[in-house]
Amino acid sequence: MVDRCICYSKSFSELKSLAQLHGARDVAALQAVVEFGFRCGLCKPYVKRMIENGQTAFPVMQCATHPFEDAGLFADITDDAPSDGAR
Ligand code: FES
Repeated sequence: MVDRCICYSKSFSELKSLAQLHGARDVAALQAVVEFGFRCGLCKPYVKRMIENGQTAFPVMQCATHPFEDAGLFADITDDAPSDGAR
């Protein structure tokens, strides 16, 4: 399960409390009151869902659901994979 921004050691429970306290309704608004999500950014889709539905622990998202996938940032990894699965 994913329950925190690892890079900034901030749990989603802590971020949820701060979002409620400050009325932050999106990731950017929450980042204005607490520092998280500025390094790898992998926590941001989870925080977005946390703000939307209050959940604070999530199964790991698949690559296709992560915004980096849309930006093509996984292309180098997937394009170089040998077709027979060997490395
Ligand atoms: S896990 Fe949040 S910035 Fe890396």
